[in-house]
Amino acid sequence: MTVPTTNKANIAPVITIDGPSGTGKGTIAQMLAKSLDWHLLDSGALYRLVAVGAENKGILYSNINELKKFTLEMDVQFSRLFEGSIELNGEEVSNLIRQESSGELASQVAENPEIRVALSERQLKFRQMPGLVADGRDMGTVIFPDAKQKFFLTASPEERGQRRYKQLINKGLNVNLRALLLDIAARDARDSQRAISPMVPAEDALLIDTTNLSIDQVFEKVLTSSQQALD
Ligand code: DC
Repeated sequence: MTVPTTNKANIAPVITIDGPSGTGKGTIAQMLAKSLDWHLLDSGALYRLVAVGAENKGILYSNINELKKFTLEMDVQFSRLFEGSIELNGEEVSNLIRQESSGELASQVAENPEIRVALSERQLKFRQMPGLVADGRDMGTVIFPDAKQKFFLTASPEERGQRRYKQLINKGLNVNLRALLLDIAARDARDSQRAISPMVPAEDALLIDTTNLSIDQVFEKVLTSSQQALD
């Protein structure tokens, strides 16, 4: 997929953090944006909003025209660092879009090339001074190929499943670890094998295996490399 680029003069620097869910990339992206005092783009939240919003309106994912119209027209309000409330067409949806089932629906919507193109303009608008930390699956490969620094976080599927399991249990939800692991594997396969903008590390991305690292250890690596890239 080719994304239109804007004029290069005075363009804000970008750091991209891609990878599958359960690698801590969302938390790391938030910590980095806070630490640099930059903007944050949680691109997965946009796919989740399309998926949940369309479903609530009874729009079938196979109805491409309606789905595209919804994607282009949806009114989304969130705080600068995607913390707290997220409003979709005036309705608070932050808890709803963070559910496991919404991630699965988002992954289905994300297979559609027209929806990816429709969301790309919205994502590019996040690129503002003094800089942007962008988290997702194709931030370094497709949306911001000229990013100053690109990361791709990984972790073993078992570790990612355990992390997600603990998060859901802590929220008081009833989850089955085996079913969760199967869901994670299915979503990884769809995200990494789709025809358009699949989840793959950019050639120039720094790969970090977070399996045996704490969030603070990952953050230290990410911050150090980012500061070197920005010097
Ligand atoms: O990061 P997340 O779990 O919130 O993302 C939900 C889904 O959205 C993910 O399974 C695939 C899709 N997605 C995508 O295709 N491209 C992105 N840049 C971000 C998310």
